[in-house]
Amino acid sequence: MDNSTSRSSLHEPPRTTLTQHILSQRGLRFNERLASLLTQIGVAAKMISSQVRRAGIIEVWGETGDVNVQGEDVQKLDMIANETFVQVLKRSGCVVALASEEEEDWISVEGEENGYFVAFDPLDGSSNIEVSTSIGTIFGIYYCSTRPKTEADLLRPGREMVGAGYVIYGSSTVFVYADATRVDCFTLDPTYGEFLLSRPQLTFPAALTTISVNEYNQPYWPQWMCQAIDRLKERNRDKRVLTGRHIGSLVADFHRNLIKGGVYYYPVDRNNKRGKLRLIYECNPLAFIARAAGGLDTWGAGSVLDLTPDELHQRTGFYVGVRDGVELIERYFNEETSNGE
Ligand code: AHG
Ligand code: MN
Ligand code: MN
Repeated sequence: MDNSTSRSSLHEPPRTTLTQHILSQRGLRFNERLASLLTQIGVAAKMISSQVRRAGIIEVWGETGDVNVQGEDVQKLDMIANETFVQVLKRSGCVVALASEEEEDWISVEGEENGYFVAFDPLDGSSNIEVSTSIGTIFGIYYCSTRPKTEADLLRPGREMVGAGYVIYGSSTVFVYADATRVDCFTLDPTYGEFLLSRPQLTFPAALTTISVNEYNQPYWPQWMCQAIDRLKERNRDKRVLTGRHIGSLVADFHRNLIKGGVYYYPVDRNNKRGKLRLIYECNPLAFIARAAGGLDTWGAGSVLDLTPDELHQRTGFYVGVRDGVELIERYFNEETSNGE
């Protein structure tokens, strides 16, 4: 063993924890209540992470037998993650409303007259739970200057978010948080039980290298989508510059694309006439993070962040990641619609 290496790693200075990072930027990027909210989300993330890590041992694998508001089978871990997020945020003292993929209606949180509205997908990529593959939690944060009274008060464009983030329960647990100015990534150190700053100020690489799309939906795609994918494949004619990677957990696919330089596509198709992904708690947070990291998003002809939702569980076509890969989609989408198809 190389003694110099072991000595230097022993003396490695401790990294910044999530809490220290938030505290260090109070008054700059975080006011007291946002700082407290993010700290609480970090706690919920650690609780969900520990449940995910024990899946299969503590009987949380499998379906509950219920079907959720989207008509999908509810996994036990979906319910556990939802309950954890709801209970922790309800007690945070700074939230006035919550909306979750797993709750048909929004939740009014009694207490303050103003505060934050948090929309979240407690567990994204549920179909990957029982095969021990990456899953995650996605959230978006809005400020409400007065207490919301009806669902309509929460149907706000994603542009109004003050921050958004996600957690990935993968080969490690990572917590990514963005405001309009920057994106930071923290990794859970299991020995200390703390999130430590691991990738400060994340940005997308400039070059597009990876395409994430479920190509077995191609028979249902609109023609322009097939043409766009064919055009991308042509880039590999002489030399492999693009590869395909699709986990089937939007959030995990997004994270890999953010690090490696990729795009994620889920078009409107014959089976999903308004798209499959949910605007408020899946697409908006990831679009917000993508843009803060120098990437782009579109629903076809503009950012999902500019859409005003009609309902809490609204779906949309969604394309997000490296600019080149999103701009290509907008070109093909635009050509087809301007041809009147
Ligand atoms: P959820 O598990 O929260 O219902 O979301 C699943 C989503 C997304 O994570 C994933 O990329 C996509 O559905 C996969 O859909 P297909 O199986 O149609 O590819
Ligand atoms: Mn999801
Ligand atoms: Mn989910």
